[in-house]
Amino acid sequence: MRPPKASDLLTWYDTHARRLPWRSLPGEQADPYAVWLSEIMLQQTTVATVGPYFQKFLAKWPRVGDLAAADIDEVMHAWAGLGYYSRARNLHACAKQVAEEHGGVFPDTEEGLAALPGIGPYTAAAVASIAFDRPAVVVDGNVERVIARVFNIREPLPGAKKPIKEMTATLTPIKRPGDFAQAMMDLGATICTPRRPSCDRCPWNKSCQALKAGDPETLPVKAPKKQKPTRKGAAFWLVRKDGAVLIRKRPPKGLLGGMMEVPSTQWVEEVREEATLLSEAPLAKSKWKKRVGQVRHTFTHFHLELDLYEASVPLKAKADGEWVLPENLGDHALPTVMKKVVALALADESENAGPLFKATRR
Ligand code: ADE
Repeated sequence: MRPPKASDLLTWYDTHARRLPWRSLPGEQADPYAVWLSEIMLQQTTVATVGPYFQKFLAKWPRVGDLAAADIDEVMHAWAGLGYYSRARNLHACAKQVAEEHGGVFPDTEEGLAALPGIGPYTAAAVASIAFDRPAVVVDGNVERVIARVFNIREPLPGAKKPIKEMTATLTPIKRPGDFAQAMMDLGATICTPRRPSCDRCPWNKSCQALKAGDPETLPVKAPKKQKPTRKGAAFWLVRKDGAVLIRKRPPKGLLGGMMEVPSTQWVEEVREEATLLSEAPLAKSKWKKRVGQVRHTFTHFHLELDLYEASVPLKAKADGEWVLPENLGDHALPTVMKKVVALALADESENAGPLFKATRR
């Protein structure tokens, strides 16, 4: 069999590269700020979801110094919906560090990049490669799949990470390493897809050992995932006489740190009685009425089910947080789970008689 060559993939990339908003045109130098921003956004999030966020960030903060000077709450708000909110905090911290300690210029080596907040080994390699054409070894989920197949690596992930990285290193070229890394991602995203790879169109189909074995779609093998537990809680929709509702900021550390929320209880696996839930409500003495339906959301490590309670209070009511008219909630950094809470709260009860409020998985 013909051994896989970087040049075969690069030739394919020259005509098949995806056009992505953060990519430079052929022959143009990539903007390290744009490359870094896109790589942070693309962690755990799809290319399709990231597109509009990336455009919004670049329009608002065209250079790293602009992002560094931005208010953190505004950054969190612009990030709302992308998930994994500590990434947004680190993004801002990183921009500040680049602006203040590096004169607004990103370090151009893997080591220099890895020393910045929020930049782990993968991101350091990706930025060094794509923005600075360093021959770093870039392995994301797409690349793992391509390499496991080309070299027929049958060991399950995550154990297979090491051999996969080693084989990627043997292929990574000295010339055009940034294009090579992006070509690998594109091959994984468009040809070497998880379920039904289009091997007939693959530039490496004469070099792919899993194709020769006849079952490329079975690779990479993954160790069985642990089942996620389900946590439960309640959210409190407190409506003031003028129609404003109470939202508040979550503590800076921890899940959804620094994002806004409709006040809610702790989220725990045990089942609690209504009286226990209501003891955690803001203005605990209000007359709470349980709404029909439930909000469901899935985080990395658990599923969440939230009941919703509603109460109204007079204009002079005092509570910790901010009173906001529902039509202005869009001005605040509400994460996706809280947007679902708002949607349920604002839904017409009669249209919502099913056992569960429809809520999408993220
Ligand atoms: N996924 C992560 N980084 C990417 C990039 N630079 N291009 C396309 N997909 C990606």
